[in-house]
Amino acid sequence: MREKGIISPAAREDDLQFDVTLRPKRLDDFTGQPKLKENLSIAITAARKRGEALDHVLLYGPPGLGKTTLATIIAQELEVGFEQTAGPILQKKLDLTGILSNIRARQVFFIDEIHRLLPDVEEMFYSALEDFRVDILIGAGPGARTHSLPMPRFTAIGATTRQGLVSAPLRGRFGLVLRLNHYDVADLTRIVKRSAGILEVKLDEAGAGEIARRSRGTPRIANRLLRRVRDYAEVRADGRIDLKIAQAALDLLEVDRFGLDEIDQKIMTTVLVKYGGGPVGVNTIAASIDEEADTIEEVYEPYLMQLGFIDRTPRGRVATPRAFEYFGILPRRPGGPQGSLF
Ligand SMILES: Nc1ncnc2c1ncn2[C@@H]1O[C@H](COP(=O)(O)OP(=O)(O)OP(=O)(O)O)[C@@H](O)[C@H]1O
Ligand SMILES: [Mg+2]
Repeated sequence: MREKGIISPAAREDDLQFDVTLRPKRLDDFTGQPKLKENLSIAITAARKRGEALDHVLLYGPPGLGKTTLATIIAQELEVGFEQTAGPILQKKLDLTGILSNIRARQVFFIDEIHRLLPDVEEMFYSALEDFRVDILIGAGPGARTHSLPMPRFTAIGATTRQGLVSAPLRGRFGLVLRLNHYDVADLTRIVKRSAGILEVKLDEAGAGEIARRSRGTPRIANRLLRRVRDYAEVRADGRIDLKIAQAALDLLEVDRFGLDEIDQKIMTTVLVKYGGGPVGVNTIAASIDEEADTIEEVYEPYLMQLGFIDRTPRGRVATPRAFEYFGILPRRPGGPQGSLF
């Protein structure tokens, strides 16, 4: 039976330790995303040359593509301190004040899930981002007053999987807004080989390629599948991973040939079967499978579009001939009966 969530891009308990061990530490070790890396590298070098804080950076993209990794890399490359928090943790303005008043010049302050900041905390954050000032409450009760104190210039790095939920005023305060895209098979193959090296797993090119293809364009999933294939290779063979071993292990785990997860499959069967290949609006798909429309748009569709399974058209989503073929569904002929699974 398919193990629940094996293809889920979100971090699972069993990933946490490996996410840290396998996380690249320098920009040169960070595979793929060439444009993003170049933009970042220029900005980092320029900031270092001037001895100034790097502009604030907003990183957005689906889970498991390397946002947290990049935030730690930026701090390393700038050779500055790294302070970390997350939108849901900052419940009160005071929590933010506490952190901001301890920030040192040029250091990185990383805010994960920045789309989940509460409105009043977010508003208070604006003055820190823009004017490098922090509001401090002095005294208590009716006599309490807020003082706006200057703070050193620092670099805020925000990360979000849901760009659409980041308010315009917040987004506008980030000088660098960088998007992470799903990785292609060649980049994922490199990532799998690098991780195998760190974990001391013997793996050949074809074995790495097979894991890469089934990783849903996501390094976190690639690393997770590598660990599971390693178990299989150690128990059922001599520990080496080649194409046959990788295929057998991943078939046993019921990992789809393109790494599609349950929600991907639900989206595709809705478009292909229920709506005969489309066009169908994203809200209709969302209602059919009980997911939020913007989660579909921001987290799921990018990978389905990269695979060439779905096209976005002004009239809605359309399944491609490649999708019909992969799912074994006959396209509906104009005026003919509904396509069916066989
Ligand atoms: N470009 C890359 N090269 C090599 N490994 C990578 C790369 N990107 C991500 N990884 C690996 O994938 C793991 C997950 O990445 P990371 O935690 O940075 O993702 P994320 O975008 O922050 O995900 P989430 O949205 O769930 O927080 C990392 O620990 C690292 O091992
Ligand atoms: Mg993260």
